Amino acid sequence: MGTSAFKTVRGMRDFLPEQAKLMKYIEGKARRVAELYGYKEIITPIVEPYELLSAKAGEEVRSRMFVFKDLGGRDVALRPEFTASVARLVATTLKNEPKPFRLFCVGSIYRYDEPQKGRYREFWQSNYELMGSDKPEADAEILMLTNSLMKTAGLKKYCFKIGHVGILRGILSEEKLDDRAQNAILQLMDKKLYEDALRLVEHSGASKNCLTTLRNLVKLKGSKTLEVVERIKEHVEGYTKAMDAAENLYEILKLILESRCEVDMNVEAGFARGLEYYTGMIVEPSVPELDIALGGGGRYDRLIELFGGEPTPAVGIAHGIDRIMLALQLQKGMEEAEEEKTVMVIPVKEALKGEALKTSQVLRDVGISAEVEVMGRKVAKALEDADRRKMDYAVIIGERELKEGAVVIRNLLKREQKTVKIEKMAETIKGRQRS
Ligand code: HAM
Repeated sequence: MGTSAFKTVRGMRDFLPEQAKLMKYIEGKARRVAELYGYKEIITPIVEPYELLSAKAGEEVRSRMFVFKDLGGRDVALRPEFTASVARLVATTLKNEPKPFRLFCVGSIYRYDEPQKGRYREFWQSNYELMGSDKPEADAEILMLTNSLMKTAGLKKYCFKIGHVGILRGILSEEKLDDRAQNAILQLMDKKLYEDALRLVEHSGASKNCLTTLRNLVKLKGSKTLEVVERIKEHVEGYTKAMDAAENLYEILKLILESRCEVDMNVEAGFARGLEYYTGMIVEPSVPELDIALGGGGRYDRLIELFGGEPTPAVGIAHGIDRIMLALQLQKGMEEAEEEKTVMVIPVKEALKGEALKTSQVLRDVGISAEVEVMGRKVAKALEDADRRKMDYAVIIGERELKEGAVVIRNLLKREQKTVKIEKMAETIKGRQRS
């Protein structure tokens, strides 16, 4: 067996305790935001039919899926996002339930991306979908909950990049460009290859006016959100659908201002996203320290229909937990969580091992984290190890004390110890924890 068998697969990582703790911390914040906004958590499979996942993902994601045949010969893939799975559920199992749905998922996602800082082949998303409403307040809610997550996770400085796919698609469809041509153009714009995108527009037979409009739009951006949208409107005059889209974006941004959700926003008229299903507002939060997005989302009003469901307008977002972790480390934003005190239970001799196990359980039953000495070491050695591992207390089980219904409690930091009755043990440790 070559040594590569003992390495993680390229782009996939082990999370050692400190990293795992940070990830679970963010996951906890994301779950709390879901609860506060009324999003119910669901769990969907990691493996789904290839057809479902590839239907509207966009070439970018489609070409990077982990696809394989299962032993039954079915074409399946590891999920490259949650949205397709949630849309499937809403199109099928949940189709007769009253709307709106607010659904939350968190878990691992797989994409064959080129590994680099903040880009992995296995990564984690927290994902929120609001389905059943086509109103701007639904879009505004997705922006607000993203702001809540960024803030409560501990990020100090971040910004939302905002656009509207309906503006670009509105122009292109009035120029009679079909979906395929539109998708190809938006893919290029997503990669900021504006010149290539414009060339493709030209080759697709669009008018001169269209080219000029797009050329002006890709330059249009700014943090005075409503003003930028007003300028977009001036540019798209004559394109009815694009005008409606700009009006819709205006309403969303106005609601955000009225809600007093304080967040830095940048409207970019030429902003596009790689996934093909978007139809409306799109967003990506980011931090100045990283040039990759911490999340991405937007409105997608036709996906559920495409999966055979009732026409169901929807808007959602996924946050990249790994990237939020990176951003937090860069901004040193993680709040110092109150460390839980730890106790090492050490029997002074072999015959007392059962008593040590029993005592550790007494501690855990009242919510104190306890470990038992399992290496058969002498007390001095076990204490040395507990010290090295920065544990707080040792509970030493000795024969003489046990006969009197007591144990020795040693404060490892203060290097003091005293004999305490077993029924007072937890109280003593907890009491000291508070002091
Ligand atoms: P997405 O933009 O493809 O959108 O991914 C969302 C976020 O996942 C990205 O902004 C990034 O933070 C994280 N991410 C993506 N690829 C990687 C990677 N290779 N390594 C680490 N993190 C990564 C979606 O997935 C849509 N389903 C979002 C959505 C939900 N739209 C509507 N509802």
